[in-house]
Amino acid sequence: MFHRTARTTLLTIFCLIFQTSLLMAHGDTRPMKKGILLVAFGTSIPEAEKSFKNIDAKVKAAFPGIPVRWAYTSKIIRHKLTREGKAIASPSEALAQMMDEDFTHVAVQSLHTIPGKEYNALKTTAKAFEGMPKGMRSIFLGTPLLYSPNDVEKAVNVMAAQFPKERKADEAIVLMGHGTPHAANIYYPALQYYFGQMDPNIFVGTVEGSPTVDDVLAGLKKRGITKAYLLPLMSVAGDHARNDMAGDEDDSWKSIMTRAGITCVPVLKGTAEYDAIANLWLDHLKIAMAHLQ
Ligand code: CO
Repeated sequence: MFHRTARTTLLTIFCLIFQTSLLMAHGDTRPMKKGILLVAFGTSIPEAEKSFKNIDAKVKAAFPGIPVRWAYTSKIIRHKLTREGKAIASPSEALAQMMDEDFTHVAVQSLHTIPGKEYNALKTTAKAFEGMPKGMRSIFLGTPLLYSPNDVEKAVNVMAAQFPKERKADEAIVLMGHGTPHAANIYYPALQYYFGQMDPNIFVGTVEGSPTVDDVLAGLKKRGITKAYLLPLMSVAGDHARNDMAGDEDDSWKSIMTRAGITCVPVLKGTAEYDAIANLWLDHLKIAMAHLQ
């Protein structure tokens, strides 16, 4: 009796699975069409676009024949670009367009630095497009530069290898991250910890989170630093790098540190302009592509 019930149940489950797969096959006979959507916060500074051109070239070389699209998550930047006649899609606009072009499998790669507000909003958007009627069968979101503990350790080593070669041991490296009120701000103190283990003259600060520029300044003074290289810890050397970090205004990091007797050497190069760092995002895209099926 027990066996018979079990057998019937199994048979029912099997029939259900078979019916579902038949329904799916009948409902969607389109051939597989893979695409890549690269999503950055965005920039309105033309020279800063070098970062995105570098990533774009790497992605196209790694996945020949697969169409690559772009979207920016920042509405302010998109609206500014539209006014300048250089409109770029939002993630939902880009995905809707790809859906209309019969893409069935899409890897969405976040080009953000940390999994903060922008990344989490993108995750919700991407998820919403999966399984829509006549939409994508599969969407996979690639993680930002820093996500797993392994990402952080790896990024620290890769970034350190890109620091200016002329820098002497008693000179500091100051990295300017964006920072956020989101919980993911914790990646910046984490970076400071790993860099500090490597070299006590490497400092991580943020524009909008913690550590702050005051924290960095206190560290520089404590170490008796007289010269510091200022580097953006952002994919592009955009507005924050050019104004908040290296600008001539009284409240820029350069001005604050110069007033404290520190000679500042700003390096206006976004992290995605360095091949070795751009490759870390590419590694995350490779994982996303492998998940598409
Ligand atoms: Co900002």
